[in-house]
Amino acid sequence: MTKSALITGVTGQDGAYLASHLLDKGYRVFGTYRRVSTPNFWRLQHLEVFDRVTLIPADLIDDASIAEAIRIAEPDELYHLAAQSFVGASFEQPIGAGDVTGLGVVRVLEAVRTISPRTRVYQASTSELYGDGGQEPQSEETPFRPSSPYAAAKLYGYSIVRIYREAYRLFACNGILFNHESPLRGLEFVTRKVSNAVAKIRHGLQSELVLGNLDAKRDWGYAPEYVEAMWAMLQLDHPEDMVIATNESHTVRELVNAAFSVAGLAPEKYVRTDPRFCRPLDVNYLQGDNSKARRLLGWTPKVTFDELVRIMVTADMERWDRCRRGEHFPWDAPNYPNEANIVTKSLRV
Ligand code: NAP
Ligand code: GDD
Repeated sequence: MTKSALITGVTGQDGAYLASHLLDKGYRVFGTYRRVSTPNFWRLQHLEVFDRVTLIPADLIDDASIAEAIRIAEPDELYHLAAQSFVGASFEQPIGAGDVTGLGVVRVLEAVRTISPRTRVYQASTSELYGDGGQEPQSEETPFRPSSPYAAAKLYGYSIVRIYREAYRLFACNGILFNHESPLRGLEFVTRKVSNAVAKIRHGLQSELVLGNLDAKRDWGYAPEYVEAMWAMLQLDHPEDMVIATNESHTVRELVNAAFSVAGLAPEKYVRTDPRFCRPLDVNYLQGDNSKARRLLGWTPKVTFDELVRIMVTADMERWDRCRRGEHFPWDAPNYPNEANIVTKSLRV
């Protein structure tokens, strides 16, 4: 029988790659999206899955819309990816971060518990839970010490998943994912900010790149591989929380150097720092230990750091090249969804 999956946050980087992965596996895929003034389906369009995902309008601050999404999709598997995911912004809107990224998780779990307790739930937990101050690679045993409103909200989400699992026997698990990137990454994150700037500088469209903390270290992997791990976690016999990472860490400075070298440019001519892009508190060292995922899922990362940087810079250079030749970016395209592909209370299919 065809399995059905519900992805909250299907318009985001991971949501789009996961939708594509599940469609390839033969799932019927439902995805929640927000009613915003400018449609935001360019990632689904880019992956050519836009017309194959059934969209359901829902917002994490609106309990009823989440419940309705679960009633409509009747999912075998629910991937809770929606969140306000930019750490920097959580310092600007700490209360919103708590509401959306923290309480949003219990809203989803309550809806699952009361409407569809058989549904397996994946929660998008994060390496940000570890916070600042660590020196050793981080595993499932490493204590959490969040350093941002975003991470504090994610710690609530992580904890409430464990609580619902133990109290109500839900199949619910946390993927503790380290940073994962791609050409579909939002422009506010450092990898894409850098790859996009390098591409624009190469095309003579930008003259400098202004960054914050160049010494921060991250364990950066390739997003399409990480969504495979999400799916694999929900296929286990028992729910398990698990680190997904490459086990390698690089500084932002190394990222910058690698990106400029792909374009044959010298970073020192273009890069400067400004405290404006530094956070009130930052996480300076993240490096995962993926032993558990290797053992239980047989999952291993394949794309290396250098390959990841090359993929991203090359993709942005091609985009700007096409733009200069008169083509529009996908996000400029008239991308309102076909209403037939949206299901709401008043319009069941
Ligand atoms: P992303 O590209 O920022 O996507 C976030 C998604 O959440 C978008 O679809 C967004 O919708 C949606 N969303 C935001 N606020 C919402 C609200 N109030 N109601 C409903 N939907 C809302 O993030 P991502 O990189 O794909 O990450 C997916 C998840 O994994 C997030 O929970 C993130 O915190 C977590 N995570 C990410 C990484 C990483 O390195 N990428 C690592 C660890 C954990 P709009 O498109 O309308 O904004
Ligand atoms: N965004 C950004 N912009 N970051 C910068 C900049 C800049 O101009 N300059 C330096 N950085 C540093 C940040 O201070 C941080 O230490 C590091 O680059 C990475 O920042 P982001 O790319 O914004 O990602 P993040 O690590 O804070 O958060 C991402 O990964 C988490 C998993 O560890 C997000 O995807 C989170 O949602 C995710 O949970």
